[in-house]
Amino acid sequence: MVRKAATLGIDVGTSALKGILLGTDGRVLASASADYPLLTPHPGWSEQDPNAWWTACGRVCRELLAKVEVEVIGVGLSGQMHGSTFLDAHGEVIRPALLWNDARTGAECAEIERRVGRRELIRITGNRANAGFQAPKILWLQANEPEAYGRIAQVLLPKDFIRFRLTGERATDAADASGTMLLDIATRRYSRAMQDALEIPDGWLPEVFESADVTGRVSAAGAAATGLPAGIPVVAGGADNACAAVGAGIIAEGQGVCSLGTSGTVFVHASRPLVDPEGAINAFCACTPDGWHGMGVILSAGGALRWFVDTLEPKADGGRDPFDSLMAEVGRIEPGAGGVMFLPYLAGERSPHADPDARAAWTGLSLAHDRRHMARAVVEGIGFAFADCVERMRALGAAPPSLLLVGGGARSPAWQQILAAQLDLALEPRAAQEGPALGAAILALVGSGASPDLATAVRLAVPPGDPQAVRHPDPALARTYAALHRRWQRLYPALRDARGG
Ligand code: XUL
Repeated sequence: MVRKAATLGIDVGTSALKGILLGTDGRVLASASADYPLLTPHPGWSEQDPNAWWTACGRVCRELLAKVEVEVIGVGLSGQMHGSTFLDAHGEVIRPALLWNDARTGAECAEIERRVGRRELIRITGNRANAGFQAPKILWLQANEPEAYGRIAQVLLPKDFIRFRLTGERATDAADASGTMLLDIATRRYSRAMQDALEIPDGWLPEVFESADVTGRVSAAGAAATGLPAGIPVVAGGADNACAAVGAGIIAEGQGVCSLGTSGTVFVHASRPLVDPEGAINAFCACTPDGWHGMGVILSAGGALRWFVDTLEPKADGGRDPFDSLMAEVGRIEPGAGGVMFLPYLAGERSPHADPDARAAWTGLSLAHDRRHMARAVVEGIGFAFADCVERMRALGAAPPSLLLVGGGARSPAWQQILAAQLDLALEPRAAQEGPALGAAILALVGSGASPDLATAVRLAVPPGDPQAVRHPDPALARTYAALHRRWQRLYPALRDARGG
């Protein structure tokens, strides 16, 4: 019997490694995941053991191969961005990797902006120095753990460590590399000026490929650890957000997606680098060789509503999802929440303020208000934070007329309607899919030769949208929210000044 051919997509996530098998007919045949712990040895530190990623990878591959009988013809890799895996001359892990949500590098970020100049940094890399990005982590190691720093032979992003173990090759892709702070975003090559300023030798950095390029083949050792056949191609793949976009079918100018998960993102694909002159939104390369994307990141999106439910909602009694009952109540409160406003910066904010010390607040409360107004203000505050990002995209001439809407918050019709008006954009809700792992598996369809190009592979694997499901903004509500947004925008600077320090 001829076995079905499939590609394997792997996503090295922050809580788990996920894998999917994608048939060459575009159908997802199986998925599996394996968890690993997040290490927080000090407040604000966030680390993981790269060997735990590799162990999880072996488990996931074996579980997938046991679930369905397929011939795996290629592998695509995706993963959390920005992390630093430090390896010695023998390819061994020197210390736990510092992750994208690690906040210890404030001093190093200031130092990078001092050495390079903020304007020049944004011009070259597309971004301000961000505590989560890779380069400041290297400087932190130099200043704080010189012995470990002295042993560095290579620095890899999380998914590229998996590639190294799987193939023995050192390689990365432009999308993930654009989150290191060492890439020239326009040329998609490492920047000599950045490397010189931060004293990063060429030999430490993996070669940059485009996402569907084959970077190597599964080695005998990689095959022994995973059960995959030796010799199959492994494509460069991409950063998790860039691969999730591919998995949602976003590969061309004018397409974008709003993700309403614990954190939130507004992601817009473009055919030129989308560099905000102040670095208020992130600019990265996309998974297409001639594509880039702008990305606004809201640190507390659905997470702010989750916090509200966990801390302030009476415990739900009859098994009804507390979000559903809360959203039903929110839907009955007038737009503007009776004058109550909420800043959702419970964990600081990335876009547009780049302020880890920003904090949340309700304003405008009176005796006439109760928790329903406070909840409506939370939902509207989250939407205004997204609207800040869309405003920056519009200023760059890059906001598309509609966005896909994914993530847990996307399933509430009341929230869809509010957000569409706040962004003044049509929103097309999509059920959560396999995300980055699917994007990686699609890229592997191209790299393995099963699909002639990315557009064909995406048409095969990503179901078309349902025009009936699109939420168009109500024009009157959009005008109301535009006025409220301008008032809301005055709160952050006022409260920043009040907080002092
Ligand atoms: C993107 C970012 C996160 C990580 C983890 O800039 O920091 O989305 O990629 O998923």
